[in-house]
Amino acid sequence: MGEYQMHSAVFRKHFALAFPLLAAILCFQTAAAQQHPEAVHHGFGDTAHWAEVFEAPQRAKWQKPDEVVRALDLKPGQTVVDIGAGTGYFTRRFARAVGPAGMAIGVDIEPGMVAYMKADAAKLKLANYQARLVRADDPELAPHSADVIFFCAVLHHIGDRVAYLRKLKPALKPGGRVVVVDFKQTSPKGPPPAMRISREEMVAQFRQAGFRLVAEHDFLPYEYFLEFVPAAPTG
Ligand SMILES: C[S@@+](CC[C@H](N)C(=O)[O-])C[C@H]1O[C@@H](n2cnc3c(N)ncnc32)[C@H](O)[C@@H]1O
Repeated sequence: MGEYQMHSAVFRKHFALAFPLLAAILCFQTAAAQQHPEAVHHGFGDTAHWAEVFEAPQRAKWQKPDEVVRALDLKPGQTVVDIGAGTGYFTRRFARAVGPAGMAIGVDIEPGMVAYMKADAAKLKLANYQARLVRADDPELAPHSADVIFFCAVLHHIGDRVAYLRKLKPALKPGGRVVVVDFKQTSPKGPPPAMRISREEMVAQFRQAGFRLVAEHDFLPYEYFLEFVPAAPTG
């Protein structure tokens, strides 16, 4: 066997072994990207930068956080879980709305955000404002622990949303709600349009996960604001 033939035979053997592996990896990545294109997105590891964005004073003009909290008609003593809470922009407001007998829990996958919220709660002396680090695919909520589970500009970051939403149902107390605020397709603000989830798609995915739409608020200029409850009572 000449040198060229030998190299060629070795190459063929390695190619034969490597090709199926390479093809499998490429297929998996393409399928994952097609299924969850929004999963490919920036992180929120730079807390200082994102705190400037989330806490920018001009945000209140369009985010209307106090109106959002008022619209939820929270009662003293209730528990609100703010998933993907970031710097606690809404969490601290929930803590005030439910009073000292209630609880607002901000959860996030970024340790910097959780540290920011803990410092925020201490600075504001709000003992009913907690922060927890959670896994990206599971908010790790105790059964029957939440009256309201809230997401603002978060669900478009979550890959397998239907599977994720299904995990929320057992965490709701009887009468509990899941609330979503997220960017409209036409909004000049928000993530790149390809990453956004239309209101219709969001409602469809909640339905698929076993929820039904019970309320909708239309006072936010750039976002839809929806409330869901389990379609069938939780056990
Ligand atoms: C655009 S920010 C919104 C922050 C906050 N909700 C607000 O309105 O100011 C998205 C936040 O969701 C967090 N996040 C992304 N994926 C998450 C997941 N799977 N579970 C929990 N938090 C997540 C990010 O770390 C980030 O803090």
